[in-house]
Amino acid sequence: MFKSDLTRADVTPKGIWMNRRKLIAAMGAGSVASGLGVAARAQEALEPNTWEEITTYNNFYEFGLGKEDPAKHAGAMVTEPWTVAVDGLVDNPGEYDLADLIGDIPTEERIYRFRCVEAWSMVIPWNGFELNKLLTKVGVQSGATHVLFETAVLPEVMPGVNVPILDWPYTEGLRLDEAMHPLTMMATGLYGEPLPNQNGAPMRLVVPWKYGFKSIKSIVRISLTDEEPLNTWQQSAPKEYGFYANVNPDVDHPRWSQASERVIGSGLFAKRVDTLPFNGYAEQVASLYEGMDLSVKF
Ligand code: MTE
Repeated sequence: MFKSDLTRADVTPKGIWMNRRKLIAAMGAGSVASGLGVAARAQEALEPNTWEEITTYNNFYEFGLGKEDPAKHAGAMVTEPWTVAVDGLVDNPGEYDLADLIGDIPTEERIYRFRCVEAWSMVIPWNGFELNKLLTKVGVQSGATHVLFETAVLPEVMPGVNVPILDWPYTEGLRLDEAMHPLTMMATGLYGEPLPNQNGAPMRLVVPWKYGFKSIKSIVRISLTDEEPLNTWQQSAPKEYGFYANVNPDVDHPRWSQASERVIGSGLFAKRVDTLPFNGYAEQVASLYEGMDLSVKF
């Protein structure tokens, strides 16, 4: 079972204790003191942020640069009906009505850590499904190596896309093995409610071990490709944002440290905690990057 499959009810103190013991044993005596903190955080029961915090402190530049702008403006976006183009190296390409594309895929709750590249974090109880289910349904062809995603561009309701802040549409990409990984999900809900527009309705990507900018919102295109896509943030500032964007406390952003993060909702004297490698999901995903220098492929 994946740690992130845990719902609040599944997390027992005994389970946490046993895992810690295993980790400590595996690390050896020398690293116990520092290791305990990281192991403990990676294993701790996740206490989700409130609905209010998750839906009023957002990044969705199509609706403006301020954290409150998406909540203010995104309500004007009509998300039903919603068409998603699926193309490239797939067996069943097409312009799908979202309900036809995902309607028969069951959803589940996943409580994930969420770490923005700006060094703030939340814990979010998403509803959705593993992206691999959708990809399997459309039939990935053998030559495909990557997946490209695109966000809607709706100038009438998105004030941001009328300004060249970024090169619209917002695009993101994953390597195919990252996209097929069971932690990678498409979110369609939050706290058991339909996903609010400011969080990327009707469907957004969630990749919990990567910086939040990989989690592209309000998706209208999914393309299977045979080359690494150029994601929007890498295109706009290649020295600051890469393709991989794996959460990494050892590789700082050129303008700030990534070693720690501000916990949203921790009150007036905002708490800072150490950032975990791969945002606490190293056990599940570190093997995807074996042999790569993650300070070069950042
Ligand atoms: N997707 C689109 N289309 N436009 C954006 O500006 N911002 C990204 C990501 N997805 C963004 C986007 C960034 S920087 C972050 S941190 C997360 O969305 C924020 O998700 P949240 O608002 O649901 O917390």
